[in-house]
Amino acid sequence: MDFTTRFHGQEFANPLMNASGVWCYDDEELDAMGSSASGAVVTKSATTNFREGNPEPRYQSLPLGSINSMGLPNKGLDFYLDYVIRQQESSATNAQKFQFVSIAGTSPEEDILLLKKIQASDYKGFVELNLSCPNVPGKPQMAYDIDATRALLEEIFSFFDQPLGIKLPPFFDLVHFDLMADVLNDFPLAFVNCINSVGNGLIVDVHTERVVIHPKNGFGGIGGPYVLPTALANVRAYAERLKPSIRIIGTGGVESGEEVFLHLLCGADMVQVGTQLQKEGPAVFDRLLKELGQIMEEKGYKSIDEFRGKVRNYAGESNPRPLA
Ligand code: DHB
Repeated sequence: MDFTTRFHGQEFANPLMNASGVWCYDDEELDAMGSSASGAVVTKSATTNFREGNPEPRYQSLPLGSINSMGLPNKGLDFYLDYVIRQQESSATNAQKFQFVSIAGTSPEEDILLLKKIQASDYKGFVELNLSCPNVPGKPQMAYDIDATRALLEEIFSFFDQPLGIKLPPFFDLVHFDLMADVLNDFPLAFVNCINSVGNGLIVDVHTERVVIHPKNGFGGIGGPYVLPTALANVRAYAERLKPSIRIIGTGGVESGEEVFLHLLCGADMVQVGTQLQKEGPAVFDRLLKELGQIMEEKGYKSIDEFRGKVRNYAGESNPRPLA
């Protein structure tokens, strides 16, 4: 089965990646992702300096997904840049998977500083700018302020010339998709990644009558099967609205090959896995590829590009966007 995925001139063996935050914190986790069957790897969203993150417990696995309020624990941008640059300079066959560095400043000013640091470094690859972390107390999810997002992108593209994408929070209103797409289409963005966790859900244990995570009185980002319809809606809504040069990474609700297939069918170019990777570890990618391959075989597809973006409306018509 041919899972080959082209993304802005890069070729990956398959479209699967970790979602930033899962299995990408330190050398050990990143090495494990490098050895896994994923097509690519993204690093933990970095701030300028090391951050401990929020008090524990800050992640809880649930029957239908997960809730987290990690609070951006990370080793600081230098650590992730060093790791990825070392990989890119190595001759190991899996080293070329390390093409995505994620950053998440706790303010627009910090985002700019992080990007200036990347620009001055030897890193060559994609940057995923996270405008949607819901878990830093007192800090809003930037991308819900559409005017502020435009202003930040204007400043960024006044100096930054490496391929940049942004990680978006979920939107729930078609007019909001229109407004956000109008902003994004004005910039030379390489991709959007949708969705980040559904922010500030609340899980309460009926027996103990307590919330299940410590930070923020229990409020946290929801991931996993709970969010699949929202994730597919966001992927499809942007596939219908973004200019073809802005590619789409689909994230949210992948448990099996079936959800990978659905993300691709709705228009995703790459597909990231968070909650299920946390539950199952990096071996999840072997299983997902096997299951995706079985679905493709049953349907008679030999490559992903045969069905990518071709979801049908109720009348049976499809309206795929141009391929990469
Ligand atoms: C964290 C959570 C997110 O959803 C995100 O996008 C970035 C960071 C966190 O809590 O660490």
